[in-house]
Amino acid sequence: MLSTKDLNIFIETIKDNSSYDFSDYSEKSFARRIDKIMKDYGLNFTQLIRNIKSNSNFIEQIVKDITVNTTELFRDTEVWQAVKYRLLPKLKNNEQINIWHAGCSTGQEIYSLKILLNELGILEKTNIYASDINEDVIEKSNIGIYPLSFNIEYLENFDQVVRKNPYNFDQYLDIPYSKYFKIDKENDSIIMNNFLKKNITYKKHDLVTKTNIFDIQFDIIFCRNVLIYFNTKLQRELFYTFNGCLHRKGFLVLGASESIVNEKEIGYVRHGNFYIKK
Ligand SMILES: C[S@@+](CC[C@H](N)C(=O)[O-])C[C@H]1O[C@@H](n2cnc3c(N)ncnc32)[C@H](O)[C@@H]1O
Repeated sequence: MLSTKDLNIFIETIKDNSSYDFSDYSEKSFARRIDKIMKDYGLNFTQLIRNIKSNSNFIEQIVKDITVNTTELFRDTEVWQAVKYRLLPKLKNNEQINIWHAGCSTGQEIYSLKILLNELGILEKTNIYASDINEDVIEKSNIGIYPLSFNIEYLENFDQVVRKNPYNFDQYLDIPYSKYFKIDKENDSIIMNNFLKKNITYKKHDLVTKTNIFDIQFDIIFCRNVLIYFNTKLQRELFYTFNGCLHRKGFLVLGASESIVNEKEIGYVRHGNFYIKK
């Protein structure tokens, strides 16, 4: 694996030749990604650095290669069940709802939420804002078409979250998939219905800048499975940033394995799967 010295040379070279700063990425997984990039492009370390210095398009490409874009429709179903039954009902009486998906990847997280907002009858008054460092995934999110055979579990997740009610086993909602997406077996695709694609504002944004690119206050921020790639210092700084971007009593939703240490110090109260701004 790449030595710490080479890792630092890589980070400094990127910093000197672009606006990206990977200094606060978690070292191990980051070094593994660079190893993979060198292998995929057939470059040794000296050649990699030479390319970074001479070609800004190459930098853009490797930033995309560094990011891990794994995602899923209703990823961690128990979190989405809680979003549906414990979180969203609290916003029902709001005149308007603003939600930020920070690190939205290819959009499955956005569509999961929009399906639930529609089920609860609050989709029309909700504005979705979504950002990612990688423009390619934003484009895929906008298109909203996913391979079917790789993602057959999306249907099971839908059943768990949209049809079943884990808080009341007597309730089963026989909602057809076609209400939200078309299953096109011939072309091996799941195609999101057009009404779900409306009213989403996308922006390319690097969370390392610790800024609110949309410049509004949010009722919910989803930042799931993104912070695991950062060191604890940057994670904590971002918890403060998100706190500043939320309305009072706004929600922060993290990945199933992510949490905030000493959340009260930053200004959050933990509430099951979520953090609420004090
Ligand atoms: C593993 S995906 C998580 C997607 C989705 N939130 C989920 O939980 O399924 C992580 C996403 O974070 C994005 N990301 C990584 N570093 C970032 C940064 N510095 N700023 C913004 N997005 C970043 C990646 O491009 C990727 O799309």
